[in-house]
Amino acid sequence: MDLLKIIRDNYPRTRVIIITGFGTVNSAVESMKRGAADFIQKPFTPAEIRNVLNKYLPKKDTATSKTLQFNRDGQVATIIGVSPVMQDIYDLVLKVAPTDSTVLITGETGVGKELIARAIHFHSQRKEQAFLTVDCCSLVESLFESELFGHVKGSFTGAIATKHGSFELANGGTFFFDEIGNISLNIQAKILRAIQEREIKRVGDTATIKVDVRVIAATNRDLSQAVAEGGFREDLFYRLSVIPIHVPGLRQRREDIIPLAEHFLEKYNQKRKKSLSGFNRDVEQLFIEYYWPGNVRELENVVERAVVIEDKQTVTVPSLPSNIRNLKSKPMEKEDSVKSLEQLEREHILSTLEQTNWNRSKSARLLGIDRKTLYDKLKRYRIEK
Ligand SMILES: Nc1ncnc2c1ncn2[C@@H]1O[C@H](COP(=O)(O)OP(=O)(O)O)[C@@H](O)[C@H]1O
Ligand SMILES: [Mg+2]
Repeated sequence: MDLLKIIRDNYPRTRVIIITGFGTVNSAVESMKRGAADFIQKPFTPAEIRNVLNKYLPKKDTATSKTLQFNRDGQVATIIGVSPVMQDIYDLVLKVAPTDSTVLITGETGVGKELIARAIHFHSQRKEQAFLTVDCCSLVESLFESELFGHVKGSFTGAIATKHGSFELANGGTFFFDEIGNISLNIQAKILRAIQEREIKRVGDTATIKVDVRVIAATNRDLSQAVAEGGFREDLFYRLSVIPIHVPGLRQRREDIIPLAEHFLEKYNQKRKKSLSGFNRDVEQLFIEYYWPGNVRELENVVERAVVIEDKQTVTVPSLPSNIRNLKSKPMEKEDSVKSLEQLEREHILSTLEQTNWNRSKSARLLGIDRKTLYDKLKRYRIEK
């Protein structure tokens, strides 16, 4: 038990499996409570050992497919995600990257749409050329068109010189329209033309310019609904969504949370010259239970903040923002034996308390433990009347 505690405190990602000689539920419960991943009762068969180990060993043969890497301006960028849906996205990215197909990436803000757009570009033959992006929310319409397609000198007040638009500058490369759900019908028509005819017109010019640009677009809106409501051109919608990629919210792929958190921990350890070795168990549990409305971006910010303010060896609950820290932590519903034993104990204690009308001495006696142990358990399980 002492060794278990040392391992849990210093190497929180190390899984501990206890082999117990007295396979009573009590000692098993005790070791689980102290953070063991699992336990094996003596006597055991080799098959039992194998089963338990298989449950906790990283799957070596699939490890390489759990991330997608690309070279971005001389640095390696990594997309983290072990969930089946992310694995499918990697496959799709690698499949569509070498083609010139238009890709529409949908999903809530912060799920990684831009990162995926970059992955597509940096896996394509265009990777040596520009990847340019425009945030379609960021500019008023009149400026947007000239930003995108350029303008000729004197075409409007302030147009003191001829300007190349960013779409033209992306020639040979990839252009990423971020938040494309927010552009006016007028600009939509011009974008459609640029994609379809592969040519653009600068503002105030009559001549057309040929451009060879691969287009990727992203939106957090439901574009088909926008089409139905008349806010988005149907023809542009079909043009864009030749290859649709939907990225689910983080809460819909909770198995990605801890790998992402560890990735960011490493990143900010380096950036902030810290050496935190992991997250403690309560932190991991809160991370897994939290709703993550801001998705991966929010998780990244939470980890960065924790790295900055944490003064222990591992990230602990007090260095989380209050909205996560104060999550009412109910025992998780998981098939895991870890939780179900704890849950059983908690429920048993609760029902005993109810039976004795919350008489703690009597409950302790009925449960066969002393009062102090009962109080410890009430605290641990956050049982309050
Ligand atoms: N799967 C992932 N692996 C690693 N980092 C990610 C992942 N998804 C998102 N991020 C990071 O989270 C932040 C938000 O991602 P971003 O692509 O800008 O999201 P979106 O465009 O959907 O709002 C970025 O810093 C990005 O690098
Ligand atoms: Mg974005």
